[in-house]
Amino acid sequence: MAPQRIDLTEAASQYQVSTHTLRNYIRSKRLTQYGQGKAIQLDRDELTALFAAKNPDTRRRVFAICNHKGGVAKTTTAGALGWFLSRRAPTLMIDADPQGHLTQVCGLDSDGLERTLYEVMVKGLPIQEAISPIILQEPPLEFEPSSLSIVGSNLELAETTMQVTGRPWWAKILRNALKAVQEDYPYVVIDCPPNLDALTVNAIAAATDVIVPVDMGAFSLRGTVKLLEIMRHVSEELADAPNVWFLATRVEPNQFTEDVLDQLWQAYDNRVLNTVIRKAVDVGRSQMYRCPLPVMFPNNMTTHDYAALTRELLNE
Ligand SMILES: Nc1ncnc2c1ncn2[C@@H]1O[C@H](COP(=O)(O)OP(=O)(O)OP(=O)(O)O)[C@@H](O)[C@H]1O
Ligand SMILES: [Mg+2]
Repeated sequence: MAPQRIDLTEAASQYQVSTHTLRNYIRSKRLTQYGQGKAIQLDRDELTALFAAKNPDTRRRVFAICNHKGGVAKTTTAGALGWFLSRRAPTLMIDADPQGHLTQVCGLDSDGLERTLYEVMVKGLPIQEAISPIILQEPPLEFEPSSLSIVGSNLELAETTMQVTGRPWWAKILRNALKAVQEDYPYVVIDCPPNLDALTVNAIAAATDVIVPVDMGAFSLRGTVKLLEIMRHVSEELADAPNVWFLATRVEPNQFTEDVLDQLWQAYDNRVLNTVIRKAVDVGRSQMYRCPLPVMFPNNMTTHDYAALTRELLNE
């Protein structure tokens, strides 16, 4: 029987991913391309094998979302990934950024929080005692509050580097603290600040996977070499170095995006995630209303991209 083929754009709409995501799967040889240019077709069986629901992989995973470049979608990614992971197994989000953006997106008053990551990092508070439930104004019907929690932060956290870097084993404070909750939370997502200080180093040392969001801008790849160097230093101290993944964010249908994506694949090849995250104005809106994107806009294309990203990361 002849294989069933489907146009690339139709496949993107059917499987709720960007055409860039499908092109990346072609690039990484997970999908076969039939035809050229505007007439590219894909095999339905291959698409189904890639995107159909499978048994969730519930190995313990700790995702650190790192990039010292500011505004590349670290917090947006942490919030959306945290949400989709929590649909599968209890998930703990950690706001390792003194700006407290993730804390605020989770509906909490960061300035009013009494127990934050600062107490855990600097004063040795057991991490269980710093966990808060997230607050949703209009939670979806199926939402189970115990499935998603957060260790929040506020500006006080900015003192962490100064307070801890003289101590022995300072890079492993968070990694050690997390051991106390590893049975309770199979998934952890850490939102890092836009710098390479002790908080980012602790997040990398605690992670099984480091995700580096890269926005589609002119200088987006410039700092990644430094970040990888730091990761190498941290990894040398660890028996189990984290996997590193690059994630293209704020993707738009234009040539500039194509060029940056090509550069990203040339530089990092099989470390680039196939799933890309498209740009949408609702992302800013959800932050303004202090609500995770998938909760406020469940049908937005960017939400669908984060659902696809979660599936790819869990290798479902
Ligand atoms: N997919 C997207 N589409 C449109 N806007 C986006 C998207 N992702 C992020 N943004 C916007 O980009 C800005 C930065 O996003 P975000 O706060 O997630 O980045 P960040 O890397 O955490 O920033 P910082 O380095 O300050 O912590 C925000 O205004 C956000 O709304
Ligand atoms: Mg942020």
